[in-house]
Amino acid sequence: MCGIVGYVGRERSLEVLLGGLKRVEYRGYDSAGVAVIDPSGVLHAAKRAGKLGVLEDALRAHPIPDGATGIAHTRWATHGGPTDGNAHPHLGDDGRLALVHNGIIENFTELKTELLAEGFEFASETDTEVAAVLLGREYRRLGSLVEAFRAVVGRLEGAFTLLAVHQDEPGIVVGARRNSPLVIGLGEGENFLASDVAAFVEHTRKAVAIGQDQIVVIAPDSVTVTDFAGNPAEVEPFDVTWDAAAADKGGWSSFMLKEITEDPTAVADTLLGRVHEGDVRMPELDGVLDGVDRIFFVAAGTAAHAGRLGVYAIEKWARVPVDVEFAHEFRYRDPILTPGTLVVSISQSGETMDTLMAVKYARERGARTLSICNTQGSSIPRESDAALYTHAGPEVAVASTKAFVAQITAIYLLGLELAKLRGTLTAAERQALLVELQAVPGKMLQVLETHERIAELAHWMADTRAVLFLGRHVGYPVALEGALKLKELAYIHAEGFPAGELKHGPIALIEPGIPVFVVVPSPRGDAELHKKVISNIQEIRARGARVIAIAELGDVAVLPFADEVLPIPLAGPFFEPLLAVVPLQIFALELASAKGLDVDQPRNLAKSVTVE
Ligand code: F6R
Repeated sequence: MCGIVGYVGRERSLEVLLGGLKRVEYRGYDSAGVAVIDPSGVLHAAKRAGKLGVLEDALRAHPIPDGATGIAHTRWATHGGPTDGNAHPHLGDDGRLALVHNGIIENFTELKTELLAEGFEFASETDTEVAAVLLGREYRRLGSLVEAFRAVVGRLEGAFTLLAVHQDEPGIVVGARRNSPLVIGLGEGENFLASDVAAFVEHTRKAVAIGQDQIVVIAPDSVTVTDFAGNPAEVEPFDVTWDAAAADKGGWSSFMLKEITEDPTAVADTLLGRVHEGDVRMPELDGVLDGVDRIFFVAAGTAAHAGRLGVYAIEKWARVPVDVEFAHEFRYRDPILTPGTLVVSISQSGETMDTLMAVKYARERGARTLSICNTQGSSIPRESDAALYTHAGPEVAVASTKAFVAQITAIYLLGLELAKLRGTLTAAERQALLVELQAVPGKMLQVLETHERIAELAHWMADTRAVLFLGRHVGYPVALEGALKLKELAYIHAEGFPAGELKHGPIALIEPGIPVFVVVPSPRGDAELHKKVISNIQEIRARGARVIAIAELGDVAVLPFADEVLPIPLAGPFFEPLLAVVPLQIFALELASAKGLDVDQPRNLAKSVTVE
């Protein structure tokens, strides 16, 4: 969703701002805009509906002067359609100030009525313009952009990151955040603000996270952070652990393809430094797990599927009750939370509003909170008691792939740490599981080698209108994930079911020729479960389904019943999902490509869902 960039420093704002927007493009947007103060102190703005290229073309046709201070924005429409007029920046104080916004100002109607009554005029249908006009009014009254900002944020309800510049104070950009992301980038004689570090990582890897309800002022040689009342705030500097090249497509045809091939590294890097002498070692969890007697995973989408796997693994290993909930449901059902409850949020972006709100809710009700997150400096880990970072590197494609396998890895490490604390697994058992986990990246590489075969299957199925996915036990979350990937990328109706549920209803969907992916558990793990899944396959085959089995190499029992077998290497029961999901990621990518769709930015979706 909306991407924000602010810059102050040298006379190269346009290059920095447009380059920054390019790097946050992956968040999803439908219009873009920029505002710059030129060296003579005049504010110029340009904005267009459509992709960044449209704005760039407009700037070529009607250039605006470059300057040393500016702000820019990619908008994902909420209030008002994606038009030139609704795009940001919005202007205030008779065009002397420009403002960009991410989030939703919930009381904008009330504020707009107040401003209209005072004779102010509006050029758009957005909630954002209300903030810009209000800021202009306050600037006139107070004569200082920072003071005006303080007055404005005190009036706003909802979630927001705001950045603004005023031509009478040309050497600063002022920003504020409540529940929406904003990070500072520290340069030499120049500073940056952005919704995430990707926007400025090519200029600096030194960053500072901005806390909740804080105002920041950047000038070329200074950065000041205060709370909304103006009191100095504690800041948390950090070094970005990846460089700009990591967020580039390189030679790959899509970010998604690049990121699937990074599945093995995402697992390996998440394990790095956390296994010591055959056991887990994670100082970042010190204290937060003591006395935990109940766990909730809260997350959305793919991250929730990772959490669902955590239910199986952690209950089995650590013998503690675990549940997974969609973050958006969790806080609306009055869950029982006690000081012994650990609420573990899972989020790639660290900014998903539903998940952030669930974490806040849990904290307010006295539960402990742990964030499994892939993005340093993001809101969710900052709002949590502890953070366990996944090290998948920047994930740019909207559909989550490598972050998913990194999340599962982190969850398994958490399960083993809990098992150690609670004495539910012996050191030898923990070591054996860790050996399995460490072997996953190598096995994933073998799965990646089957890409071409999966691509053939996908291209051959390009006209398919519906696909079902079945799995049991840890195969069930994999089925859910396979279906989600296909829906979001190929716009095909896809559903994941627990295979045992089939005869309780979904079997009615089976008609001749319908493709059904079945995640088959290893016969060496739970032979009984394996037998059950084979008999599920027979049931659907008998009704004409075309069965594509994802099964362990050498599982001969599946061969007579499956139309296609996509093999995965031998692995212990909890580690099969990390392998079985890879062909499903590839399948969705290839089917979408066969249909000529944009795999990196599927329609209607945003990478980081920063509104509720
Ligand atoms: C699916 C996908 C989404 C995200 C979900 C949560 O491919 O990417 O379902 O998993 O929106 O996002 P994060 O993990 O950033 O909280």
